[in-house]
Amino acid sequence: MSDRPNIRISGAARRRAAADAALGDRAGKPPARTEGKAFAPANIALCKYWGKRDEELRLPMNSSVSISLGALGTRTRVRLGDGDRYVLNGSPLAPESAEGRRLREYLDLFRGPAAPGFEVDTENTIPTAAGLASSASAFAALAKALDVLFGWGLDLGALSILARLGSGSAARSVAAGFVEWRAGERSDGSDSVAIPWPERWPQLRIGLLVLASGPKSVGSRDAMRHTVETSPLYAAWPETARQDLETLRGAVRTRDFEALGRTAEANAMAMHATMLAARPAVRYWRAETVAALDRVAAARAEGLPVYATLDAGPNVKLLFEAASEMAVAAAFPEARAVAPFGG
Ligand code: DP6
Repeated sequence: MSDRPNIRISGAARRRAAADAALGDRAGKPPARTEGKAFAPANIALCKYWGKRDEELRLPMNSSVSISLGALGTRTRVRLGDGDRYVLNGSPLAPESAEGRRLREYLDLFRGPAAPGFEVDTENTIPTAAGLASSASAFAALAKALDVLFGWGLDLGALSILARLGSGSAARSVAAGFVEWRAGERSDGSDSVAIPWPERWPQLRIGLLVLASGPKSVGSRDAMRHTVETSPLYAAWPETARQDLETLRGAVRTRDFEALGRTAEANAMAMHATMLAARPAVRYWRAETVAALDRVAAARAEGLPVYATLDAGPNVKLLFEAASEMAVAAAFPEARAVAPFGG
């Protein structure tokens, strides 16, 4: 049984209540300074977040784990202003665009008499051509910049709650390294938080293969909802993800690269299988995607330990270790290698 009250309150009011709860007695206090700056990394999920149990609070059906991409991410500066003004990668962002509206609604969660407007200047440190510019690093950087502006001094759990209210995967971008996002059980989402894993894996590499750029056919939010509502395969997903997450936890603890790669690849395939079975299907794959997956399989058949994962888009990300860097560069000359732990 849900402990949600019978009275219907709006999504915006529920989100504001969740943000206020994460802020505790800091909620509503005036900003400590006039400007806050922060950086947050992009992240690649090894066990994916796919499906929400609460759309408004962005509470996931399953726990997930990702690896943050070091210096690749988003740098954001927030300043107090009379009204809102947004700049994205040096160009003004129209307030009435879909992205502008999403940003304004998010900032509404923190607006008050002492903070009527926000000037947000945000820049991706990932070249746009890398096809990775995502809402994850954007909302994590914004939550962290607001934390500096207001002087809240939030811990990681509270920061991840605020980031999640902007985009689910942003919950994991508040920290470096391996970050688990616990699905949680409470209806207010207060236990749906990020927990970094203590292990470091300096030899781990991620290869970014950009096969297609430009806006994706369907955004992840709509694709997720449609999959949950119509895919007969979705029922198997939460348990599959639960098992994969535990296997990944063991693989990271024992530094078993083969188990990590195999599980991450299988998890991505299972997520896409749920989408392909949706009615109508959500299919992000292009001919180039299949060709790249064929090359990964062929490289592996020749003894190269390389695995693939992909998100809600056509681009493939490779997983390998430093010892295979030269061989991977030879097999995938177009891949951009990233050392998430700095190498
Ligand atoms: C496939 O975090 O973009 O990348 O919560 O609706 O903003 P919203 O969705 P988003 O979804 C990311 C889905 C994914 C898998 C993952 O990163 O775990």
